[in-house]
Amino acid sequence: MAKVLIVDDEERMLGSFERAVVGMGHAVITAISAERAIELIDSSLPDVIISDLVMPGMGGLELLSHVKATHPSIPVIILTGQGTVKTAVQSIKNGAFDYITKPFDIDEIELAINRAIEHRDLISENIALKNQIERKYSFSNIIGESKPMIDIYRVIERIKDTKSNVLITGESGTGKELIAKAIHFNGFLKDSPFVTVDCASIAENLLESEMFGHVKGSFTGAHRDRTGYFEEADGGTIFLDEIAEFSIHLQTKLLRVIQEGEFSRVGESKVRKVNVRIIAATNRDLEAAVKSGSFREDLYYRLNVIRIKMPSLRERIEDIPQLARHFTLKYSEKIDKNITGISDEVITIFSRHAWPGNVRELENIVERAVIFCDSSSILPHHLPDGMTSDSQNPCFATEHSFKNMSYKDAKNAIVKNFNREYIVNLIKNCGGNISEASRKSGIDRGGLYRLIRKYELDDDLRN
Ligand SMILES: Nc1ncnc2c1ncn2[C@@H]1O[C@H](COP(=O)(O)OP(=O)(O)OP(=O)(O)O)[C@@H](O)[C@H]1O
Ligand SMILES: [Mg+2]
Repeated sequence: MAKVLIVDDEERMLGSFERAVVGMGHAVITAISAERAIELIDSSLPDVIISDLVMPGMGGLELLSHVKATHPSIPVIILTGQGTVKTAVQSIKNGAFDYITKPFDIDEIELAINRAIEHRDLISENIALKNQIERKYSFSNIIGESKPMIDIYRVIERIKDTKSNVLITGESGTGKELIAKAIHFNGFLKDSPFVTVDCASIAENLLESEMFGHVKGSFTGAHRDRTGYFEEADGGTIFLDEIAEFSIHLQTKLLRVIQEGEFSRVGESKVRKVNVRIIAATNRDLEAAVKSGSFREDLYYRLNVIRIKMPSLRERIEDIPQLARHFTLKYSEKIDKNITGISDEVITIFSRHAWPGNVRELENIVERAVIFCDSSSILPHHLPDGMTSDSQNPCFATEHSFKNMSYKDAKNAIVKNFNREYIVNLIKNCGGNISEASRKSGIDRGGLYRLIRKYELDDDLRN
């Protein structure tokens, strides 16, 4: 049942209309003029408004624009006499949900009311969905109260309502994407599109057309015109994940979008305009890429207007207990278990672990522990094999070899040793199977390959 407000200046008409709509099972409120309708809308909040077009005093179109301005989610159906179809079309352009020409039969009215209600429900569902997304990326879902995280919250707060480009750097799994979404969904662009492009997962020869679109026939397989991600993101934010994967050609094209807001689809010379905020992310060393000539320096400066450096989990071990508890509750709720905590031993193991896969690795390990957990809190034996022993990682025993280093260098060297050892053990334990190692550790395959390259582990893995 819906609440329907009927507006018509003819009393007789209003009466018979009311009886018909009540007969359909709806509640009805009537108004003899648009002015009276406006008074009633605020107090009775109807689900649907049906209004005559031509009335003395304020007409249907004016009422429509009033409703659009004050209660945009209430659908309005306009009734028109014959010969005013043109105005009726105008009313649709002005945002009316539908129009019905007189004389009409009752079935037509019933259909229009039902469609309007469905439409309104859909809109409120969309709003609910949007609220859910907003909640998901609100600050309250970013866990961590360590100093580096608080600094990051401050930066987000300062930039969320600007269109400045942002560069987010940090190791794999540190939360770069999470932060990119937090910037967008907490800021003034939150009602505009947010488009993610995972540059590493798109084949290089397709990346340009995915980003900028193409015209039919511009290459084999281009069967029709296609818009690219940049056009989809117009007015909003584009998140370019793994920006270091861009070829020099694409870098040049990206620079033009940033500088002039212009680009062309592949195979087309027509210049198109877009207005997007760019958030780029990478876990590679872009400065080194600039030095070696594989990344354009001018583009680097354009992207690096605001820089956010995500700390590795090792740099904020004080956040580990809170993160671990957060994921425990998240997954225990998800699979309907009643696990309420984590034992102190597990927290100790966690704070000694090297976490090369950062928060994602922690999340995966907790998820797995929740699945295996047979008590009310997570205990060491719910953790993967090897995790309990790597807290006694031998790299701690060789600390004397760092004697002549500064504290910072020594710390870095220890972490590096720790990571090398962890990765070699992990992959060896998986019989050299990178996909399995990836599943076990929560570090994606690309991340593992990058770490193998970074630490030059090929030889260690061969032996
Ligand atoms: N501070 C945090 N609080 C809660 N969850 C987090 C936090 N940081 C990361 N996560 C979670 O960890 C996982 C990895 O985060 P995300 O995908 O944002 O990392 P990333 O830096 O983009 O990784 P990659 O470089 O591998 O793409 C996600 O499930 C994310 O929700
Ligand atoms: Mg990512």
